[in-house]
Amino acid sequence: MPSVTVRAPAKVNVRLAVGPLRPDGYHDLVNVFLAVALQDRVTATPAGALRVTCAGPGAGQVPLDAGNLAARAAAALAARLGRAPDVHLHIDKDIPVAGGMAGGSADAAAALLACDALWGAGTPRETLHELAAGLGSDVPFALAGGAALGRGRGELLTPLPVEGTFHWVFALAEGGLSTPAVYRECDRLRAEDPAGADVPPPQGDPALEAALAAGDPHALAARLVNDLQPAALSLRPALADTLRAGADAGALAGLVSGSGPTCAFLAADADGAAALAKSLNDSGTCRQARATTAPAPGATTIDFHA
Ligand code: C5P
Repeated sequence: MPSVTVRAPAKVNVRLAVGPLRPDGYHDLVNVFLAVALQDRVTATPAGALRVTCAGPGAGQVPLDAGNLAARAAAALAARLGRAPDVHLHIDKDIPVAGGMAGGSADAAAALLACDALWGAGTPRETLHELAAGLGSDVPFALAGGAALGRGRGELLTPLPVEGTFHWVFALAEGGLSTPAVYRECDRLRAEDPAGADVPPPQGDPALEAALAAGDPHALAARLVNDLQPAALSLRPALADTLRAGADAGALAGLVSGSGPTCAFLAADADGAAALAKSLNDSGTCRQARATTAPAPGATTIDFHA
């Protein structure tokens, strides 16, 4: 039976600057994405009708109905090609579910590439990017990988140069946080704060981009920003303990990853990351701590049987 397997990376936002709420319910962002080497794999095989299965940690929390982002990706591509979405998508999960690391977006990006190859469609890259943007704000970046500046909802991408390898530790939490709920909490906290009433447009940070381009973890650590962090901490106060444990264990810096609840810590090198992961695992402040590296490539075909 023909099959195509594609792997796609998780991301951490090394800068997530959130502007005011837009009339369409989204927020304008200046978002610096960095793809990390935690990856999901999606295998597409022919089937009578669109079907999704999922295995791996947290698989039980992944919806397997038509609302699954990978299923929506297959349906969107099939509609564009004018064919039936007659595919079985099997997701091997390694990215934490609802963890603020864009795991669902990675699955959607992987499904787009896998179905395109399985169906022999050769869809142009720009069309895949456009379909990806229609599926979710973070899906285009999961296709692209590396590092990128995201504007708009996050979907208007400019690739950014990155030198060398950055060493990260991710502290995975018990359970997830809903991205819309975290944005709502951000709006609520801002409305409560007299000084935060007028939210300025989100800005970029040239020093952060220089740190990525130089491969300098110390300079990058000094520039990490996540405007969603107060909202994630408000909804999940225990994350403050995780952030403190990482700081006490010698992380160069730590922050909530995207909308959380995963916390991300930067280490100086691979040994530092391994020691930090061990300390965080021993701290009892997270479900599991995992060391990994960045940047990672975007969605990539790793197996193809015609
Ligand atoms: O686009 P996506 O489906 O990933 O976004 C999930 C939710 O996150 C949106 O429905 C919205 O509530 C929030 N969001 C936002 N501003 C963005 C991106 C996402 O408010 N730029």
